[in-house]
Amino acid sequence: MKEIKRIRIPYLLEMKERGEKISMITAYDHPTALLVDRAGIEIVLVGDSVGNNVLGYEETVPVTMEEMIHHTKAVRRGVKRALLIGDMPFMSFNVSNEKAIENAGRFIKEAGADAVKLEGGEEMADRVEALDRAGIAVMGHLGFTPQRISQLGGHKVQGRTEAVAKKLLADAKLLEEAGAFSLILELVPWQIAQLVTASVKIPTIGIGAGPHCDGQVLVLHDVLGFSQPLTKFPKRYVNLNEIIEKALLEFKSDIKSEKYPTIEEHSFSVDEEVLKRLKK
Ligand code: KIV
Repeated sequence: MKEIKRIRIPYLLEMKERGEKISMITAYDHPTALLVDRAGIEIVLVGDSVGNNVLGYEETVPVTMEEMIHHTKAVRRGVKRALLIGDMPFMSFNVSNEKAIENAGRFIKEAGADAVKLEGGEEMADRVEALDRAGIAVMGHLGFTPQRISQLGGHKVQGRTEAVAKKLLADAKLLEEAGAFSLILELVPWQIAQLVTASVKIPTIGIGAGPHCDGQVLVLHDVLGFSQPLTKFPKRYVNLNEIIEKALLEFKSDIKSEKYPTIEEHSFSVDEEVLKRLKK
């Protein structure tokens, strides 16, 4: 198969058509951006989950545009192949189409993102259309939408009742018609995610939405074992917390026991003659 130098939106649509699963992950800084791009993951999201995973906020709600731009720029410097998406933080797109275009434009022009993502269904269809008309590609986000955690009452699966499932299906169609190029489905029963996936031409990317979406996304910190996941869906592939804690304890112990640094391995020396003169 032809090697793809840079992932663009039409390629993702083709992947859905041929039934090839799409991989997506978050990144918030330059070193991990290099790693996820090297792994060949197709989409990298600078999620507003930077708030709870990196910045120490309890939720994503306080994250600002400035923080998102700062992190997206760092990730852009590392991502060369994957499609890079900037996540629009709470209140950067909710007020008006104009404000949304201005802020989404910053992600593209200032931070170098290829597209933006925003949370919401029917109420955001007009916003998605306006951004699309302005030439900015938008990924939608349905199901559990973390920026509405207050209204939703916590990390709860969305779409278990007929009414909510119907709304999800309708919202997906509306966002597709408005021009969204893809949809995140978060915390959705797998059967409903399967129905949504079959009902739209654009790729669905699931997170806690079962195996039948066109792709899957996870938060990097959950995959690497930096976080304590609140629900059962994230798969931890390595426990970096444990590995890093062990390394730090060893580092501290080496300092206390004077095992580190050694002269032979970790120190620099000066010429003996210079030293002699200095000591006179
Ligand atoms: O901010 C984020 O990490 C996200 C993913 C959970 C899709 O929106």
